[in-house]
Amino acid sequence: MPFRDPIDKRSSARLFRDRDYAKAQANAGSEPRDPFWWTAVLATRAAFAARPGAKLISVPLHGGSLSVSVGGGWRASTSLPDDVAVQLDLYLPYCVPHPRGLVVAHIGQSLDSRIATENGESRWITGEADLLHCHRMRALADAVLVGARTVRADDPQLTVRRCAGDNPFRVVIDPELSLTGRHAIFRDRAAPTLIVAAKEHGDRRGETHGYEVLGVPRVGGTLDVSVIRTTLGDRGLSVVFVEGGGITISHFLEAGCLNRLQITVAPIIIGSGRPGVAFPGNRALDGALRPRIRRFDLGGDTLFDCDFDA
Ligand SMILES: NC(=O)c1ccc[n+]([C@@H]2O[C@H](COP(=O)([O-])OP(=O)(O)OC[C@H]3O[C@@H](n4cnc5c(N)ncnc54)[C@H](OP(=O)(O)O)[C@@H]3O)[C@@H](O)[C@H]2O)c1
Repeated sequence: MPFRDPIDKRSSARLFRDRDYAKAQANAGSEPRDPFWWTAVLATRAAFAARPGAKLISVPLHGGSLSVSVGGGWRASTSLPDDVAVQLDLYLPYCVPHPRGLVVAHIGQSLDSRIATENGESRWITGEADLLHCHRMRALADAVLVGARTVRADDPQLTVRRCAGDNPFRVVIDPELSLTGRHAIFRDRAAPTLIVAAKEHGDRRGETHGYEVLGVPRVGGTLDVSVIRTTLGDRGLSVVFVEGGGITISHFLEAGCLNRLQITVAPIIIGSGRPGVAFPGNRALDGALRPRIRRFDLGGDTLFDCDFDA
């Protein structure tokens, strides 16, 4: 059987009939029960991490085996249902080595590109399948990164709870150290937490809340995201999942520091509210970014997985 290349099928919408996501949702408060293919995805990530130079690895899959090439192509020793194949297409490219690092952002938005209402309410624009997807992406990342406004609005835990997998490092961009210790990320000690602040705040460990502060220089009024990316990479945090909000993702995108952007579009129109991706100034249409797109049906929502490196 030839290797299945997930890129080959990028132009068609693929069904994301995740028969197990409802089960995972029902178990969200307790131990998650994962589908068999998710165990193979995590095993693939672990196998490549253990053998960084490997061109091909093989892991158990449902009584057979799954071979994954360093390019993300895969082949199963037994035939798989289409919906399982689609999930492997989606997640396996995030499990292979990325020697120069990989920064992938995700945003859930309405049809009119809103990621939250005017008063900052964003739970939940997209549905349960997208929420589970975010937890899976966290499990495949070394670090999950958000902007200070997301912490202020949502007080997120940024941990892996809806599926099996390790918690990534948590990184928050908070230039003036405006957040207080009342937020969950400072209190729960569920994962190491790094605050990225302006250079003048220096590098230090938070005396009170057990977090670490990383000072980064400014460029054009904002913190230099290319320095953030490089510094995280130097610490071994090479796969970074930027989980919002729109301002933070836009800084990364504008600086050319995103390899992938996942936009999940929910079939609702909010009318006004916080924007998703937005750049200042006028852009000509021929200056539009035209990433290679893979499209997935995600419950009632649609996930556009944009690849800027392809
Ligand atoms: N629908 C979704 O998928 C989703 C995901 C996440 C969040 N949200 C919602 O989106 C809203 C927050 O998003 P947002 O776009 O308003 O803000 P945000 O991206 O969460 O945070 C932006 C803030 O982070 C800091 N920041 C980020 N990058 C920076 C950089 N390069 N340099 C300097 N500072 C930087 C700044 O903090 P200061 O303000 O301190 O300067 C900036 O104002 C909330 O309502 C949240 O609920 C939705």
